[in-house]
Amino acid sequence: MKVGFVGLGRMGVGMAGSLLKAGHEVTVYNRTRAKADALVAHGARVAEEISGACRGEVVFTMLADDEAVENAALASGGILEGLAPGAIHISSSTISVGLSERLARAHADSGQGFLAAPVFGRPEVAEAGNLFVVAAGAPEAVAAAAPLLEAIGQKTFIVSDTPASANLVKLSGNFLIASVIESLGEAMALVGKGGVDPHRYLEILTATLFGAPVYKTYGALIAEGKFEPAGFAAPLGQKDIRLLLAAAEDLRVPLPLASLLRDRFLTLLAHSGENLDWSAIGGLAARDAGVTRK
Ligand SMILES: NC(=O)c1ccc[n+]([C@@H]2O[C@H](COP(=O)([O-])OP(=O)(O)OC[C@H]3O[C@@H](n4cnc5c(N)ncnc54)[C@H](OP(=O)(O)O)[C@@H]3O)[C@@H](O)[C@H]2O)c1
Repeated sequence: MKVGFVGLGRMGVGMAGSLLKAGHEVTVYNRTRAKADALVAHGARVAEEISGACRGEVVFTMLADDEAVENAALASGGILEGLAPGAIHISSSTISVGLSERLARAHADSGQGFLAAPVFGRPEVAEAGNLFVVAAGAPEAVAAAAPLLEAIGQKTFIVSDTPASANLVKLSGNFLIASVIESLGEAMALVGKGGVDPHRYLEILTATLFGAPVYKTYGALIAEGKFEPAGFAAPLGQKDIRLLLAAAEDLRVPLPLASLLRDRFLTLLAHSGENLDWSAIGGLAARDAGVTRK
């Protein structure tokens, strides 16, 4: 298929690479041009402007946040203006429920399709084409996009025909991951200060009741205290908890644990955490406990 791809950050570069590997004709655009040029060797064409990435049947966005996606899609010279009627915008960024609803309306008014297809998996998983894709939108758009979603992920889950429902699922998933990071960080601070080797502790956890990937991935990062380089940057993690709380507020759903996580992220960011991986909130409990790493 003829595909545009806007946003070649940690995740986007791997996703666009997977589309190229699957044989699709991909035109990429990125604010920082060098990241787009790096994909030329893999067969990508580079667009000078966003509109140049909107000439195909589908355009993906994988940008940092609401502001970037809103600009790319709705500003003058953006996707809404550039995309042909019948073509589809697939939004894979983790964005707010509110923006997803606005994008769905705007594209429908222009006779275009809109699919929310946020993903689970870190940059190395994106590079391997093994993401989990959580998609929602009109069945025709889902069917048309299926080969592309298959190229970027190992499995696609269709939530419903309302795009924003996929964004809500994604935000709730990141809430659960952040909850695990925080609770693991607390448990590991406890056993660590009590003299237990964190790696041995993690082996016991993951070989018994806690064998899920999220415990393995984040447990290892916390045990190592290895929060750089960031795979998923802390400011983006904070953004997700903020968007989750906004969705919860709209629906009148109290999320006391999410409010706590919000403060954990603010603590991290206030203490030079801007460039760390979001799992660095899992190191705060050890710091609070006065645990010094050997
Ligand atoms: N990293 C993960 O593990 C992960 C996993 C699942 C979902 N996500 C979500 O996926 C999205 C992308 O994450 P990422 O880790 O790839 O982020 P990233 O590495 O920080 O990349 C962000 C991308 O957005 C662009 N961008 C940021 N602000 C912009 C603006 N104001 N105008 C135009 N372009 C802008 C950046 O362009 P430049 O290159 O010019 O800076 C870059 O292409 C986020 O919504 C994130 O929450 C991330």
